[in-house]
Parts: sequence; structure tokens; C-alpha cells
Amino acid sequence: MQGPIRLAVLLSGTGRTLQNLIDKIKQGSLDARIEVVIGSRADAFGLQRAKKHGIPAVVVERKRYRRAEEFDNEITTQLDKYVVDLMIMAGFNCLYKIPDKYIGRVMNIHPALIPSFCGKNYWGMKVHEAVLDYGVKVSGCTVHFADNTYDNGPIILQRTVPVINSDTPESLAERVFKEECVAYPEAIRLFQQGRLRIEGRKVSILP
Ligand code: GRF
Repeated sequence: MQGPIRLAVLLSGTGRTLQNLIDKIKQGSLDARIEVVIGSRADAFGLQRAKKHGIPAVVVERKRYRRAEEFDNEITTQLDKYVVDLMIMAGFNCLYKIPDKYIGRVMNIHPALIPSFCGKNYWGMKVHEAVLDYGVKVSGCTVHFADNTYDNGPIILQRTVPVINSDTPESLAERVFKEECVAYPEAIRLFQQGRLRIEGRKVSILP
């Protein structure tokens, strides 16, 4: 791919993941341009971050649509206004039925090691609370291609962190988030370099 990879970011919340991408682009370690940010809540702070950096910020409020299909169509309509190579879900808490033309071009990140502690009810601090309640010794983050089921698509990268006795959900979340800040840009770079090959559930990373 020549020139910066063109991204669209979908978010629902504070936009720390968006901020990480903006920072990496500014530092020169990610050759990307964020064409648009779409928020599923009007009060998502991530939209403010986008505006502050001169990125178009669009609201498609989930609660305004009774039928999921109408919401999906509106997201697609908004995305279609831009030329985008890759869609990035960054704390996007809604299910978006990805049209066929975008399959394989939408990534998501989850703050645990999929297939554990993931799915519809696992988001935000609930993930880390569940990890601590279960007593596992490692956690981490997973970057994957999104499909039409929560946290289900083919896995691109995982990074692990230790879980320690004195952890609170917050301390664990912070440790995991540091790894997210490495993993997501890395997955985007691999996509940009054409090094990700999807075969069924498996993603090969080409040399
Ligand atoms: C991250 O932990 C990510 O794994 C999950 O949402 C969190 C980022 O949300 N998908 P935000 O950027 O803080 O709103």
C-alpha cells in the first residue's frame, strides 16, 4: 500500500485507543491518516478528541434506531462517504453488521485473551473483574478481524500480561492497556504491509 493507510475509527467511549493512534501517527511510528471518527453516543469523549485534531467526527447514535438494521445502514452510509482502507473499532460497544464489501477490513481490540472473557457482556471493567474473579494467572489483549458476532473474528495478534495477587480491575486494566497501545498499531502496520492472510479462522502473518 502506498502512502498513509486511511482509517475510519468507530467508538462509543473515551477514545483512549483513538488517542493512541493519533499519538503514534504524530510520532511517526504509524503511517496512517484518520479520515473520520464515528461515535455511537453523542457524549462519547472520543468525538471531542477527534475534533481537537481536526478529524471529522460523526454521531450515529445507537439509541435513535429501533432496529439494528437501520443503525447498521447508517454506519455504512457514513463510512461510504470516505475512502477508507481499514475500519478500526476502538471501544465500540455496539454490534455493527459488517457489509460483505468491508469483511476483512474491520479490526477490533478486546482487553482479554479471546476466547476467554469475551462476548456480549464483557466490556470495560467487567472484563478485568471477571479475569480476577476467575483467578487466571495471565491476561492480555487480542486484536482480531471483526465479523458479525461479538469478539469472534479471526485473531491477528495477542499480547499477554501477568495477573498479580494485589491487582484491582483498574491496575490490571492499566497493564493491559499498555499492551493494547503496542498491539493495535502493530496490527494496522501488518495490514498496511499486506502481510495478513486470512484463511477461515486463522490469520497468517507473512514474512
Ligand atoms: C479498550 O480497553 C479496548 O480493548 C476496548 O475498549 C477500550 C478502549 O475504549 N475495546 P476507550 O478508547 O477507552 O473508549
